[in-house]
Amino acid sequence: MSQSYRAVGWNRQKRRYDLTIAAGVAAYLVIFICVGFAIDGEATIETLIIRACGTAALFLLHVVLAIGPLCRLDRRLLPLLYNRRHLGVTMFLVALAHGGFSLIQFHTLGDLNPLVSVLASNTRYASLANFPFQPLGLAALLILFLMAATSHDFWLANLTAPVWKRLHMLVYVAYGLIVAHVLLGVLQAETSPILAATLGVGMIVVLGLHLIAGWRERALDEAKEAEILAGGFVDVCGVDQIRDDCAKVVTLSGERVAVFKYDGKVSALSNVCQHQNGPLGEGRIIDGCVTCPWHGYQYLPDSGASPPPFAEKVPTFNVKVINGRVLVDPKPNAAGTRVEPAVI
Ligand code: HEM
Ligand code: FES
Repeated sequence: MSQSYRAVGWNRQKRRYDLTIAAGVAAYLVIFICVGFAIDGEATIETLIIRACGTAALFLLHVVLAIGPLCRLDRRLLPLLYNRRHLGVTMFLVALAHGGFSLIQFHTLGDLNPLVSVLASNTRYASLANFPFQPLGLAALLILFLMAATSHDFWLANLTAPVWKRLHMLVYVAYGLIVAHVLLGVLQAETSPILAATLGVGMIVVLGLHLIAGWRERALDEAKEAEILAGGFVDVCGVDQIRDDCAKVVTLSGERVAVFKYDGKVSALSNVCQHQNGPLGEGRIIDGCVTCPWHGYQYLPDSGASPPPFAEKVPTFNVKVINGRVLVDPKPNAAGTRVEPAVI
């Protein structure tokens, strides 16, 4: 958080996280290659490296995709989310090794540039059995590259959070391309039942977690929307239903609002952090500021503005406390507008 951008700092916990990922990937590759040799003495080291890296990247992609919904279902898993970008970049590097070795192995012997060869060597798009699956992998790799290259906070600040978020939603397109790459290619040629079954389970887990998390959030939104019928200011809850220095999240006119109680006062602001859309209402008041639970960006509860010299701002909402009930105006004020807190 800064006037331009704030890189989320490296610390001991992040270094330990990165070392664990690197050690885990290295162990997987070594075990895969040793077991591969033990099962098939004729397999070449190049083939085993390609397969080890491909399956490792595929597994990491499933973990990356599962972390989001898992954290929405259980807040204790939030620490997994803090460093998800490191996991994403690792996944890209492992996928790059797989794609790079495949290019060397299968596309460097002819006259064509290896990248042109991937696109031109097989053009049987009408045949399901011989479909050119490698261009699908290449397209996915390009998306993963775009995401890894823009994963730093510098890009987040310069592209703005909504554009960055949209760009990073392309991960689902990459996932679709990779599933097709594996199903159309390897499964037809090798008909590996273990890979097919594992991919099937992975897809069910990713899809299932997204559906459950989405359904839970929708149910919450619908329940709160109903209260808007009371008109004007909306009765969102009793003061005693909000813990000190914490918030209650309600949905008003389709927007999530975080209603914070602190120092005998109540303030309401948008639930969406300007950094990576983290849920502010799941954070706490620390040093007088609403502190995002994801990476610690801070906002003053009455104005929704980050304390100087930082420049982030979120919309605020007018709020009253009457007879121990918290009433919020569903119309948002412009981001950074100061609103007198309601005194309890
Ligand atoms: C330039 C991009 C890519 C190329 C040229 C490429 C090429 C290949 C080739 C030739 C195979 C068959 C290997 C074999 O059976 O011996 C393969 C399999 C595979 N690819 Fe890719 N790929 C690319 C990108 C990706 C990406 C981005 C991922 C996932 C993150 C991926 C995941 C896989 C998986 C899981 C397999 C099956 C591994 C196995 O055989 O056990 N590929 N790919
Ligand atoms: S601090 Fe990163 S999302 Fe809020």
